[in-house]
Amino acid sequence: MHIHRLEKIWLGFGVAMLAVFLVVIGISGFAMGMNPPSGHAHTIDPQQVDVTPPFDKPGIRQVGDKEYEAVITSFAFGFDPNEMEIPAGSTVHFIITSKDVVHGYQIVGTNVNMMAVPGEVNHLSYTFDKPGEYLILCNEYCGIAHEMMKAKIVVS
Ligand code: CUA
Repeated sequence: MHIHRLEKIWLGFGVAMLAVFLVVIGISGFAMGMNPPSGHAHTIDPQQVDVTPPFDKPGIRQVGDKEYEAVITSFAFGFDPNEMEIPAGSTVHFIITSKDVVHGYQIVGTNVNMMAVPGEVNHLSYTFDKPGEYLILCNEYCGIAHEMMKAKIVVS
């Protein structure tokens, strides 16, 4: 069987690239200890959200200088809390879960875009430097009133 010279070069390039990727993944996984995010998975019984801390007391509370923790539950069709107020420059640590189906938690105008999955707890931090009213939307289709599912954060 005759293989064209250019095909041989291209095959060799493909095999070399595969070897390079395997070495990169091997070094980052075994030598540098990188793990997929599931390495710190945090789960919850979705039927017991209302009695499981911290979700038994949803809301926003100050945990430091310009630092807040927002414990949020999502459900068809809303969020608790559905309105929050913080001073500009505050960092908010969001902790979210769902009481029923998959919901989304997207803060318009920021890169905050979380999934609220029943049985899972999701975490994300964001610093609100610009004052204003931030709309929060559910961006996972969750039922008949999905488009009504919203909340807001007022940064002043
Ligand atoms: Cu909740 Cu869409």
